[in-house]
Amino acid sequence: MTSEPSAGRVAVITGASSGIGAATARALTADGHRVALLARRTDRIEALAAELGDSAIAIAADVTDRDSIVAAAERVQAELGATDILVNNAGVMLLAPFSSDQQAEQRQMVEVNLLGAITATEVFLDQLRDGGGDLVNVSSVAGRTARPGNAVYAATKWGMNGWSESLRQELSPDIRVIVIEPGAVATELTDHITHAQTKQAAKQFVDQIAITAEDIAEVVAFAVARPRRMTLNEILVRPTAQSL
Ligand SMILES: NC(=O)c1ccc[n+]([C@@H]2O[C@H](COP(=O)([O-])OP(=O)(O)OC[C@H]3O[C@@H](n4cnc5c(N)ncnc54)[C@H](OP(=O)(O)O)[C@@H]3O)[C@@H](O)[C@H]2O)c1
Repeated sequence: MTSEPSAGRVAVITGASSGIGAATARALTADGHRVALLARRTDRIEALAAELGDSAIAIAADVTDRDSIVAAAERVQAELGATDILVNNAGVMLLAPFSSDQQAEQRQMVEVNLLGAITATEVFLDQLRDGGGDLVNVSSVAGRTARPGNAVYAATKWGMNGWSESLRQELSPDIRVIVIEPGAVATELTDHITHAQTKQAAKQFVDQIAITAEDIAEVVAFAVARPRRMTLNEILVRPTAQSL
């Protein structure tokens, strides 16, 4: 393991087709890293890879489909070399009052936000171990505070925080575990909410106070650039105007 993180590491970003994932890809390539862009919308990640040039490859992958993650890990190893940084960013926030009407969306949030991150991590773990890796888990302020209407989303992020804390202890010192907890960020996240009243309220809230995906990307890039003697274990980043 090197004592200082070097430029030109290999980063894998799930959910790289928009929002925080795409911004993180831009920030990490600007810092000299090579990136693998994973998502389901291939047109988006291919366009981003073309923008980023030789330092980026686009790989179609669904975090709920383990075979697609295994295939992605093989491609990363073959085309970029072993993964140094895994950013578990893929997520959905399908907010609604808790009821049976939303049971498919409740399951989807657990499968993408929590099980998806767990799957990507167990698949990439050997690559990350090899040479000193960083595991960046994009959680949320909802991993610390729950409120009416976000029960299952909050459960996925509280779950991610507990899982991350266990891994932090278990994987140290070979792998640093870094949890990022954004507050409101202007992305496509609220576009997918299907409960009309909740969607309108969420969009209004975000429009009023949100910070940018680039703000979060800068924090990720800063965290992975720290010397290996230290780890930013947990970073809560709210808009200044956000209360909860
Ligand atoms: N925006 C906020 O206010 C906020 C606040 C706190 C935390 N977060 C977290 O930040 C992360 C990124 O969200 P964002 O705000 O940037 O929203 P976004 O623009 O909607 O991005 C979500 C990403 O997740 C990907 N994704 C969804 N389902 C997937 C699946 N089954 N397999 C692979 N990728 C999948 C999407 O790609 P495809 O659809 O192309 O697959 C997309 O790239 C999420 O974990 C979210 O919970 C966001």
